[in-house]
Amino acid sequence: MKTKQFAFGIAVATACALTGTPSQAAEKLNVLCAADDQWCNLMESTFEKETGVDVSMVRKSSGEIFAQIKAESRNPKVDIWWGGTGDPHLQAAAEDLTVEYKSPQLDSLLDWAKNQAKDGSYKTVGIYAGALGIGYNEELLKSKGLPAPKCWADLTNPAYKGEIQMANPNSSGTAYTTLATVVQLFGEEKGFEFLAGLHGNINQYTKSGSAPIKAAARGETTLAITFMHDMVKQVKKGFPIKVVAPCEGTGYEVGSMSIVKGARNPETAQKFAEFALRADIQSLAADAEAYQVPSNASATVPDEAPKLSDLKLIEYDFATYGSSDTRKRLLKRWDDEIKSLPR
Ligand code: G6P
Repeated sequence: MKTKQFAFGIAVATACALTGTPSQAAEKLNVLCAADDQWCNLMESTFEKETGVDVSMVRKSSGEIFAQIKAESRNPKVDIWWGGTGDPHLQAAAEDLTVEYKSPQLDSLLDWAKNQAKDGSYKTVGIYAGALGIGYNEELLKSKGLPAPKCWADLTNPAYKGEIQMANPNSSGTAYTTLATVVQLFGEEKGFEFLAGLHGNINQYTKSGSAPIKAAARGETTLAITFMHDMVKQVKKGFPIKVVAPCEGTGYEVGSMSIVKGARNPETAQKFAEFALRADIQSLAADAEAYQVPSNASATVPDEAPKLSDLKLIEYDFATYGSSDTRKRLLKRWDDEIKSLPR
């Protein structure tokens, strides 16, 4: 009898372990991350350690995340979108794919991060900033006898045929920022003329924004268009990468975060949002070799972060270039008029 009771006890205990009672079930959170993998992973493990929440974190590019959240809008699987350029976050806000959340930490943020929240009706908020640049592998450039670029306009030089890599602006927020930057710098017609000239020199349009500078570090392309902080990461790793701030001026991103409308774990998503806005958490970025400028005014700015105040930044019009109409229209124009051109 005793043995039977004991056996029953084990059976119940096993059944509970297999099915899990509600009180035992770990809180869950599904995050799509558009920063670089290393930083995504650090955010995941730090949040899990601090809260015990079971986080599922997947890295995708900004445009891909926007497309996924839109496609899943009737049955959302993602709770929060952390990182990636601000324009598709604004488009998601405008298309009502994300929800308003006014963090009590908003006042601790720098103006560009607060402005991003305002532009997105508080359905998004800035978490970091970084400027675009031109990077090149100095050894490769020298060995090929190519001139060092100084300006965006230099990149259409036929001497660079097959030597430049950038991402596809449909998938990558970095590349969309590049497209929107040249349109703002040169005007739309001249901007597209520039992109057509640049296209002749492109060896590959990658899916992810930082891939081209990683390829330059490996010697697989000579030049790359990415954010400068992604270049600095390769310099720090010891690769012969030179970082150029284009002479005409350059655009920048406000890396952002948004809670998905209809999220299955909305409270945990808010918990993560609060965590991600904290100064101590933003100060961890450099441990993951992420050298953006953090949005919390009290966070430590990594020494390696390119100083935005030293750069000739354009007055990037986030409200316009993050609007549904403009982003859709420019991407379609790029597909129709640039991508299809022979190389
Ligand atoms: C890199 C940069 C981030 C940027 C992201 C955008 O990870 O470090 O600052 O937000 O690229 O990624 P995407 O693949 O969308 O261009």
